[in-house]
Amino acid sequence: MIDAVYTLAEPYWHTRSGEIHMPESFAMAQRLLEAEPAADPLIVLAGVLLHDVGYARVPVETHHAGLADAPGGWDANVTRRHEREGAALASEILRQVGMDEARVARVVEIVDGHDSRLEALSLEDALVKDADKLWRYTESGVRITHTWVDRTPEAFMDYVESKIDAWLFTEAARSLAREALAWSRGCVY
Ligand SMILES: [Fe+2]
Ligand SMILES: [Fe+2]
Repeated sequence: MIDAVYTLAEPYWHTRSGEIHMPESFAMAQRLLEAEPAADPLIVLAGVLLHDVGYARVPVETHHAGLADAPGGWDANVTRRHEREGAALASEILRQVGMDEARVARVVEIVDGHDSRLEALSLEDALVKDADKLWRYTESGVRITHTWVDRTPEAFMDYVESKIDAWLFTEAARSLAREALAWSRGCVY
């Protein structure tokens, strides 16, 4: 079922480097699931694949304002819009692949608050949030997102390192963040 979600979600990733962010966050989610066997993998993996699909329905010229740390100022409406559009698309895609309604509701709720809701509603919600944020620590995440917040790669890596405890919910994610960042620090940008 996750393969089918992946195939249907992928066409919506071709903005804001989603075609790189989503596979990287998907791989992170798979590693988090190994550390957190109590989590429902279908909910977590579908949540990660679908969390940002809403950006495909938000005007590209506003995407830069969809980050809480955007240098030109954050527009909370852009964040909410990509969450709401994403939740609607997620519900269509998950019904198309035949996911049961109880799980659809859980994934939709996760997508709908993945950026704006600061607390996690469940272990699955926490793992989606963690997998999303973990991209920022990877080589590609640093290379791409340092430009979004107008920082040098080095300053960006110092910044995300300072946020490990604040941003990440699980110990597994904190440890993956440190591991990814150590690799990124060895890369030439
Ligand atoms: Fe997002
Ligand atoms: Fe994301």
